[in-house]
Amino acid sequence: MRKKMDWKDVRQLIGEKPIKVALVLGSGLGSVLPLEKVKEFSYDELVGFNETSVTGHQGKLIIGSVLETKVAVLSGRTHFYENGKPDTMRGPIEFLTKIGTSYLFLTNAAGSLKQNIPTGSLMVIKDHINFSGLNPLIGEKSEERFLNLTKAYNANMIDALLLAAKQNNIEVSQGVYAWFSGPSFETPAEIQALRILGADAVGMSTVPEVILGNFFGLKVAAISVITNMASGLSQETISHEQTKLIANSCEKKLEKLLISLLRKFK
Ligand code: HPA
Repeated sequence: MRKKMDWKDVRQLIGEKPIKVALVLGSGLGSVLPLEKVKEFSYDELVGFNETSVTGHQGKLIIGSVLETKVAVLSGRTHFYENGKPDTMRGPIEFLTKIGTSYLFLTNAAGSLKQNIPTGSLMVIKDHINFSGLNPLIGEKSEERFLNLTKAYNANMIDALLLAAKQNNIEVSQGVYAWFSGPSFETPAEIQALRILGADAVGMSTVPEVILGNFFGLKVAAISVITNMASGLSQETISHEQTKLIANSCEKKLEKLLISLLRKFK
């Protein structure tokens, strides 16, 4: 087998100039951007990247640009439920810091807990509830493990997302995202419990990356594509197929939003 590349090898291939903005594209959102590709690596070529086993997730690191903004795109992520490792995204997020990233935008698919956040809409995450009881920093030895998450979601990046939405007439709500480990979807009783706790949406990702991003000193923001009403809240079928289908159907809207957002970070 060929030797895997680490961040130094990749940096030699892409040049030393820092790639300030990074984007993680979630379920069914893998091809959301008109990227002028400079280089593309599949996760299995890179040190510290776990392979993704989820359909709708490509598992590629793409370095390129959108208009004039250089961006590193993680197309596909690994989830805790794929391998039982809460820190499964530690390698990729650390990698981003090594290539000079300061801003990390995360996307995901999520179920809505609120009637006013309907299927097919977008929700900017303003805070999260880590309902899984897991943490990617478990086992970390440094004092930095006692991470302050009071401002886990960067206010300026949230403002930039909201402005980009406004400028493009895209309706977005803001809300609290709860992380459930998955891979099974939630029960109606769990969703009722989450509603009482103050969550607006639920999903199986993102929270570990938000924690890791903050741990590595990145500024972080995240946006959910609402692919369904959560368990027990509607007659819709909840399935991975539905998640991919609705996520795909929202790609154009998300693309418009992200292009406009990235322009602000050139
Ligand atoms: N629950 C958890 N994760 C999800 C959902 C959901 O309803 N929809 C998309 N991802």
